[in-house]
Amino acid sequence: MLAKSKRDLSAAVRIAHEHALQTTIIGFAANSLVSDAGVDGLVILNRADRIHFMPDYLVEADSGTNLATLARRAAKQGFGGLEFLIGIPGTVGAAVFGNTGTRQQWISEVVERVELLGENGKSRWIEARRLTFSYRASELQGGNDVVLSAVLRGHAREHAEIEARMQDYLGLRKNQPGGSSGGSVFKNPPGDFAGRLIEACGLKGEQKGGAEISPMHANFIVNKKEATASDIRYLIELARAKVKERFSILLEEEIKYLGKWS
Ligand code: EPU
Repeated sequence: MLAKSKRDLSAAVRIAHEHALQTTIIGFAANSLVSDAGVDGLVILNRADRIHFMPDYLVEADSGTNLATLARRAAKQGFGGLEFLIGIPGTVGAAVFGNTGTRQQWISEVVERVELLGENGKSRWIEARRLTFSYRASELQGGNDVVLSAVLRGHAREHAEIEARMQDYLGLRKNQPGGSSGGSVFKNPPGDFAGRLIEACGLKGEQKGGAEISPMHANFIVNKKEATASDIRYLIELARAKVKERFSILLEEEIKYLGKWS
């Protein structure tokens, strides 16, 4: 179902709990791989996207808000600090859940507090520091709380400087392939880069069915032509195995698997 507001989202989650339905909430599913076997239960497409600017360079954004839209709206207000969100395909809820970011900055650095819907159907605000964020991770990943909205902090900045910074951030993604992909497949291991390691194993351009390890950036797998999720999974396992064999480093997925996987 489609949730167009926080109210829709809360109502859908509550109904799903009442009927003991498994629930999957997706924003853009930009960093996800959906199983060929589909997803059981209720899938909620989160389009709750109200943005509310407050005094003192605070902004509250619903969890379905597009990060790039938020960055652009902030820019118009002379609200600096959110420029890094411009190139990230995703929503505020998913970003908080997975501590999305660039190599330079993570969303945890600008989140003040988060509104959560608990399993008891009640919403509550919690201070962001209580979510124990780390690289591409938050405490939310171990639980069933749903992000309804988040308050982010920025600061005053000249419009021209905000624009220039946004262009710089977009520039950092110039080595990333266009077309369909799930973004970075693996997290970077400490002190190294998944893309570098996979490339060093000679896997750029490796194909399975309609999927290909991108010749542009080896930590991206592109759906060239009707790839199945199993094609993509095959390449993920291949890359993990080769990097383990050659470098004794076990790569961990950044992408999330949705639906039924054996
Ligand atoms: N590299 C290679 N071969 C490749 C790809 C990269 O040798 O095929 C090398 C590059 O030359 C560079 C290093 O690896 O020295 C890092 O590459 P890059 O600058 O592309 O950054 P990244 O670590 O691969 C991270 C984020 C991206 C984010 C960029 C820019 C992770 C897993 N990925 O990529 O985030 O856009 O920095 O800030 O942290 C995402 O999370 O989905 C994502 C796209």
